[in-house]
Amino acid sequence: MLEKIVILDFGGQYNQLIARRVREAGVYCEILNYAAPMASWADESLRGIILTGGPNSVYEEGAPRLGGEIFSLGVPVLGICYGMQLINYILGGTVEHADAGEYGHTELNVRGGKLFEAVSSETVVFMNHTDRVAQMPEGFQCDASTRHCPVAAFSCPERGVYGVQFHPEVRHTVEGTTVLRNFVLGVCGCKGDYRAEDMIESMLRDVRAQVGEGKVVAGLSGGVDSSVACALAERALSKGQLTCVFVDHGLLRLNEAESVLRTYRDAMGLNVVYVDASERFLTALSGVTDPEKKRKIIGELFVRVFEEEAKKTGAQFLLQGTIYPDRIESGMGGSATIKSHHNVGGLPKDSLFKKENIVEPLKSLFKDEVRAVGEALGIPRRMVWRQPFPGPGLAVRVVGEITREKLDILRKSDAIYLEELENAGLSENIWQSFAVLTGSKTVGVMGDGRTYAYCVALRAVTSDDAMTVEAAELPYPVLKKCVSRIIGEVPGVNRVVYDITGKPPGTIEWE
Ligand code: XMP
Repeated sequence: MLEKIVILDFGGQYNQLIARRVREAGVYCEILNYAAPMASWADESLRGIILTGGPNSVYEEGAPRLGGEIFSLGVPVLGICYGMQLINYILGGTVEHADAGEYGHTELNVRGGKLFEAVSSETVVFMNHTDRVAQMPEGFQCDASTRHCPVAAFSCPERGVYGVQFHPEVRHTVEGTTVLRNFVLGVCGCKGDYRAEDMIESMLRDVRAQVGEGKVVAGLSGGVDSSVACALAERALSKGQLTCVFVDHGLLRLNEAESVLRTYRDAMGLNVVYVDASERFLTALSGVTDPEKKRKIIGELFVRVFEEEAKKTGAQFLLQGTIYPDRIESGMGGSATIKSHHNVGGLPKDSLFKKENIVEPLKSLFKDEVRAVGEALGIPRRMVWRQPFPGPGLAVRVVGEITREKLDILRKSDAIYLEELENAGLSENIWQSFAVLTGSKTVGVMGDGRTYAYCVALRAVTSDDAMTVEAAELPYPVLKKCVSRIIGEVPGVNRVVYDITGKPPGTIEWE
């Protein structure tokens, strides 16, 4: 029987990380908007509730609040940052605005309590607050404090209610994983035996229940997510129900279409239709320079192509490889939308596909869980462990206006770069690596003549989850070789730079 923790979202920046840590502890969890009706989530699988941080102050007008009903569900509740202050407010304590806020690494003095079992008595935590608990509700004990925050953690074990002012989910909180594990395993009593692979049977059942005898077109992009989604649907449905559509939008990497189609057809046995829509996409993108406009045009055209294929086969359903972070990053909770992902909420109003006919079997999984499912389904490793590639493809790697000439230069430069990384045995530990065609032309000298040509940027990042990344520290000789090969072999390039920006403040893709 599945055991579930519900994370109620108050708009904090790190909410996805809370969910990650809970799943890493082997417990299934879902992030829901704080206002989601309780009846929709308080079922027999519920083992505990986590209230997240958020940007508000509890006394502020319009601040997101909850009633006291969550405390009568008979499951433990943990409040983090704003979540802790909210618990305090609901149960009759007081919150005050501190003169000095605490931001970043802070020394925490632990007094005791179930959340801190096996945690050092002095430990470093990540703080991000100005409000703090002034007076605790009746019956609560103080479990930890810092210099500026006398009640940095509290609890009332008899009622199963806990609160921490710091963020246990971020890596800067040195023993944060232990605190969260103590809550979900120790306090909530979850078994900790959840594995994404165990979800396969229920995902298959859900696809069958949604689709019935209907027909489905599936968007296959060559990436991990859509490949795993299609492999699942192929297993769930009968012969003839599923048509996978691989759209060549003219924004793919060098030789990508051929190699991906080979894997799909030969190694995975999928029924794939190849649609060469490059002319259409490139015409629609001609003269467009704004990154979000590019995404919108591409997103809409994708749907149009799928609709045309659906008309041919009589399909009513569209299957997509949407995963959990796609939904969260596209503003499903309270956080800001940084980039709109084309497969989330992007259906045109007049689309042939009804909202309820979008099939998203992976919608509650993180990337590493999708990979585990992919391996369990027997998808070739080279596909399961591919680097992520954005839906809009090279459109977001050609800065500014897209032309065929620029795409050609980018493809050749990118292929040389990836080949050299592979030759140097560096590909394994890199989250994503690619070339970018910067919009700039620069002056150079080659032979005895002046050149005025494009500047290419190389990017390689390491990451656990794409939420935060570091630039990879590539060996200098490898970089030098890439620079000299690209300038020597790709006409139109006379300068190559390496991007060492992390995320934040940058993003992975340049656009
Ligand atoms: P950023 O650039 O936001 O990227 O740091 C995070 C991850 O998402 C990918 N990405 C996209 N994927 N449609 C997609 O399907 C998009 O519009 C899009 N933009 C970025 C990016 O490659 C990285 O893995």
